[in-house]
Amino acid sequence: MTESSPLPFTDLRPGEDAPEVAAAIARVIERGWFVLGPEVEAFESAFAEACAARFAVGVGNGTDAITLALRALDIGSGDEVIVPALTAAFTGLAVIASGATPRIVDVEPGTLTLDPEACAAVVTSRTKAIVPVHLYGQPAEMTAIRRIADRHTLAIVEDCCQAHLATENGVPIGTTSHAAVFSFYPTKNLGGLGDGGAVITGDDAIATRVRRLRNGGQRDRYHHVEPGVNSRLDELQAAVLRARLHFLPAWTARRRQLASLYRRQLSDAVTAVSERDPGHVYHLFPVRLEARDDLSAYLAQAGIGTLIHYPVPLSDQEAFAAYKPEACPVASKAAAELVSLPLHPRLADTDIARVARTVNAFVKAHSEA
Ligand SMILES: Cc1ncc(COP(=O)(O)O)c(C=O)c1O
Repeated sequence: MTESSPLPFTDLRPGEDAPEVAAAIARVIERGWFVLGPEVEAFESAFAEACAARFAVGVGNGTDAITLALRALDIGSGDEVIVPALTAAFTGLAVIASGATPRIVDVEPGTLTLDPEACAAVVTSRTKAIVPVHLYGQPAEMTAIRRIADRHTLAIVEDCCQAHLATENGVPIGTTSHAAVFSFYPTKNLGGLGDGGAVITGDDAIATRVRRLRNGGQRDRYHHVEPGVNSRLDELQAAVLRARLHFLPAWTARRRQLASLYRRQLSDAVTAVSERDPGHVYHLFPVRLEARDDLSAYLAQAGIGTLIHYPVPLSDQEAFAAYKPEACPVASKAAAELVSLPLHPRLADTDIARVARTVNAFVKAHSEA
């Protein structure tokens, strides 16, 4: 790769996993069974084991996973569910889809995960659950969040959509809450060749209810006992995800290595989002700079792709206006300064060096201007 060849933000084509992915697809086609079959069952048990959870239930996507986990906990109309302001809007949209009201609260300035104090401040008698987001792959501050949930008897549904295999204080995320949810959108640390998601739980009743809700609320074939949805993980995605699952520990280790290279090589003038826990799995590597837009343009000129996670906090999104969210100044300031640098397991050390060098050159030129 030369200094001017394109370095895209991500690369979703199968790499070392390609032969196994192709074999998985061929197997499903050969079998001729495409929805809720042996591949989904095999993936569910492999994924549950990888997460150190008792049950995993495959669903159509991460958004549905949140909605169905909340519904399985009997949370819906009239209830409030706390979500952080800085996340994929889907976290909040999933709460709305459950019938509940999202209560959007601010994030901590260093890690940009849910601020436990802000969370405690909005609890009312209507609050039924907290959905902490392990943003960018970093566990939210679960000890403090759990204390609030315990004090007010709230459920916790952890949004692990960006945090496959992350740990908090050495404990696998999602295993100490009522339920936790994952997305297998292609860009995720474990991604399919399309949409996919899962709910993990240690509670047999929640797993059974999510299984029923994902399949139209059927107790058995053609007997619908509640208004469920159609949100089934398909056999092709399940087969691909299972083929990729055993690569995930090595891919995660590589993400951590690349993140530490960035931390060592980037100028002090750019602020990387802080790492509170080494269980961080670096789904993304965002940095902050007031001149964010100029930096993105400079990197684009040099052939380096970036994205912004996220340019608009939930508190400022039109879609949530009806819920009259309070201002979330920490999230709003971050949203104006964040830019995510390329980070995925197929990047070379030299790619990271090139990005860091280009960022540092921009910062130097900018400070001299
Ligand atoms: C933090 C977070 N929550 C929820 C979602 C929704 O997942 P999906 O796109 O699979 O519905 C995503 C991914 O977009 C996400 O990053």
